[in-house]
Amino acid sequence: MMEQDIQEILFSQAALERRVKELAGELRRDYAHKAPLVVGILRGSFVFMADLVRHLDFPLTLDFMAASSYHGAQSSGKVNIQLDLHDDIAGRDVLLVEDILDTGNTLSKLVAELRSRNPASLKLCVLLDKPDRRTQPIQADYVGFTIPDAFVVGYGLDYEQQYRNLPYIGVLKPSVYQG
Ligand code: XMP
Ligand code: MG
Repeated sequence: MMEQDIQEILFSQAALERRVKELAGELRRDYAHKAPLVVGILRGSFVFMADLVRHLDFPLTLDFMAASSYHGAQSSGKVNIQLDLHDDIAGRDVLLVEDILDTGNTLSKLVAELRSRNPASLKLCVLLDKPDRRTQPIQADYVGFTIPDAFVVGYGLDYEQQYRNLPYIGVLKPSVYQG
């Protein structure tokens, strides 16, 4: 069972529900009259985004992107967009939704790319922030929880594409990824 691979539950289903509701309250305050485009970064944001938008009671549209950074020698290059937005974002108020902000490599490049398309505004909402590992000067505008440097799974987050369906967020036992 998946649960045997979890060392510790960091955020229970109830705790996630409470915090997502609070974040939605902040977004209602800031976006109620803006009809934003809410962009989920696949695949990790899908659970968070689904819960979040159901607490938003104003007009909005949704889209999705998938991206990865080049690593190693190419790390200063452009972000690799595997799935791009359906529509132009010029003049739109765009809210990016991501599961976790870690080193910031992927998101900083994605944000730079999206800014070049001239949105009216571009903000970042992440469920989890792991500031200890940050290497890029990027901050989220909305953060669910700030966490220490541990590898976490569940509620959309994966290890090798597994565990995304856990209803809570837990720390993976190191024995799982150390073999
Ligand atoms: P960077 O380092 O570019 O990467 O900010 C962010 C992406 O790395 C993944 N990531 C994690 N995934 N548990 C996960 O399941 C973690 O603890 C974790 N830390 C980073 C994630 O895909 C995120 O989009
Ligand atoms: Mg991700």
